[in-house]
Amino acid sequence: MNPNKALWEKGDFTRIAATMRESGEALVGTLGIKKGLKVLDLGCGDGTTALPAAKLGADVLGVDIARNLVDAGNRRAQEHGLANLRFQEGDATDLTGLQDKTFDLVVSIFGAMFAPKPFDVAKEMVRVTRPGGRIVMGNWIPNDPTLVAQILKISATYMPPPPEGFVSPMTWGVETNVIERFTRAGVPQGNVSFGRNTYQFNFPGAPSDFVDTFRCFYGPTMNAFDAAEKNGHASDLRKELDALFESQNTSQHKDTTSIPATFLRVTVTVN
Ligand SMILES: C[S@@+](CC[C@H](N)C(=O)[O-])C[C@H]1O[C@@H](n2cnc3c(N)ncnc32)[C@H](O)[C@@H]1O
Repeated sequence: MNPNKALWEKGDFTRIAATMRESGEALVGTLGIKKGLKVLDLGCGDGTTALPAAKLGADVLGVDIARNLVDAGNRRAQEHGLANLRFQEGDATDLTGLQDKTFDLVVSIFGAMFAPKPFDVAKEMVRVTRPGGRIVMGNWIPNDPTLVAQILKISATYMPPPPEGFVSPMTWGVETNVIERFTRAGVPQGNVSFGRNTYQFNFPGAPSDFVDTFRCFYGPTMNAFDAAEKNGHASDLRKELDALFESQNTSQHKDTTSIPATFLRVTVTVN
């Protein structure tokens, strides 16, 4: 089994995605979506961005490597009565089956960054975008002090070293890497621009309950706990994550959690 697919099918990302809906909808509101726009949401999960894009009238295809998330996305499309939204399984490193120059907008929010072979991913995103179309990515930033970068950083210290040649997903949060990947795919450097945005995680429970949700349902954190348990360090990992979530929580109510996280927003115009 492809380890990338196994990682995301191991848990149930819908449980984390449920805490990200407001920010997903707000981000989609900034994308200039009009009725009939052809949108690909790559690494779409269960549709945190795909669904609001379809609600604005776009014709949306969500592609994700995890079968369980594709199924969850299609269920949500049906529940919302959205005939212009569908989800299918696919790998961002090889979008065989999707025609060249098809989409007006390719969006990938914390999605394609998790695929291996980043140069192939950039090439595929450019290939399926129509001339004059855009690619918008949201990528977590390495060593950023906010939530997700810190979860991944802490988790990595409990994991065995990655295999030789492994390229960290976090390199998608470094502007020079992003430019190198898109210019190699034929995009002029001047067509790649960057901004910093914030996503808000809103969880209906205390910060330590939110840590539990990551431990039980978020593939990368599940793997970190599996590795830490083998070495007898699971309680250290737990303590570090509890302290992180507690310190980042901005909610005034003790039984809800609200945590902002900064990401790199990448916009690419395809000629
Ligand atoms: C952090 S989740 C984000 C999901 C969604 N974009 C959202 O904002 O809720 C990462 C997603 O990327 C997907 N993914 C990881 N590697 C992928 C690949 N090679 N091709 C397509 N999807 C991939 C995972 O299955 C998962 O749904």
